[in-house]
Amino acid sequence: MNERDSLIDLLIHDLTGPLSIASTSINNLLNKEDRYGPLNDRQRKALNMILRNANKAQSFLHEMIEVYRSEEGLFRKEQCSIPHILRDSLSEAMEIIDPGMVEKLSSVDLSDDFFELLEDNGVFVHIEGKYSASSFTHDQKKLQQIIRNLITNALKYRRQRVNISISGDEDLVVMVEDDGSGIPPEKQDYIFKRFLCAKDKPKGDERGLGFGLSCVKTLIDTMKGKITLTSGEGKGTCFTVRIPPLQT
Ligand SMILES: Nc1ncnc2c1ncn2[C@@H]1O[C@H](COP(=O)(O)OP(=O)(O)OP(=O)(O)O)[C@@H](O)[C@H]1O
Ligand SMILES: [Mg+2]
Repeated sequence: MNERDSLIDLLIHDLTGPLSIASTSINNLLNKEDRYGPLNDRQRKALNMILRNANKAQSFLHEMIEVYRSEEGLFRKEQCSIPHILRDSLSEAMEIIDPGMVEKLSSVDLSDDFFELLEDNGVFVHIEGKYSASSFTHDQKKLQQIIRNLITNALKYRRQRVNISISGDEDLVVMVEDDGSGIPPEKQDYIFKRFLCAKDKPKGDERGLGFGLSCVKTLIDTMKGKITLTSGEGKGTCFTVRIPPLQT
């Protein structure tokens, strides 16, 4: 086992347990005051902040686990509903612009109301082709991780609008486009690299870890898919992903 593998094993085995115990305990303190005692506003606020961060660390770890599994060739063969994966990815991604959105989006069915609510927030979805109605055979968690990361970035960097389209009759094709400031050509080569070093990062661009897209790229490569990027300064950004169905 090389150094990298043992580090990943350490992350998976030694961090998942304690982190989930921490979240469960904080949840108990917040939601079972009859058993654990009453909380004042400042305590509740502090616990909510700890919970949010414990959850963030957990999702980060889960993303790493999926990347590790994909590098090992471990895929779950599932019949995936792409509209449902898109809905869940959108709900998670919208949380960054409006934490109340998750509740609003989960209170409506995957119907016109759902898409209207998104349009009110500048997100336009178009689903066509085979996978609008039939299932796509692949690993659901990994598909969701790819789609959610691309949507989160588009929401983070857009000016006003995000267009998402799903198509394809054999390979699944997902396109996520925004009208943000774009990615200059000299930066396009390294945005897929894991943990962009601070020295490589353009000045003034400190947002995020630079982890999301490197995971997306590894997942897509191990799925024998393709990701392409069209962008220019001031012209917005469009990521297109093509993934073949899982064969084995
Ligand atoms: N849609 C986009 N528009 C403009 N720049 C983008 C877009 N998507 C990614 N980038 C650039 O690529 C970099 C890498 O993206 P990546 O998703 O890996 O990291 P991040 O969003 O900064 O952090 P995180 O690890 O939380 O995802 C970003 O920091 C940003 O500079
Ligand atoms: Mg990101």
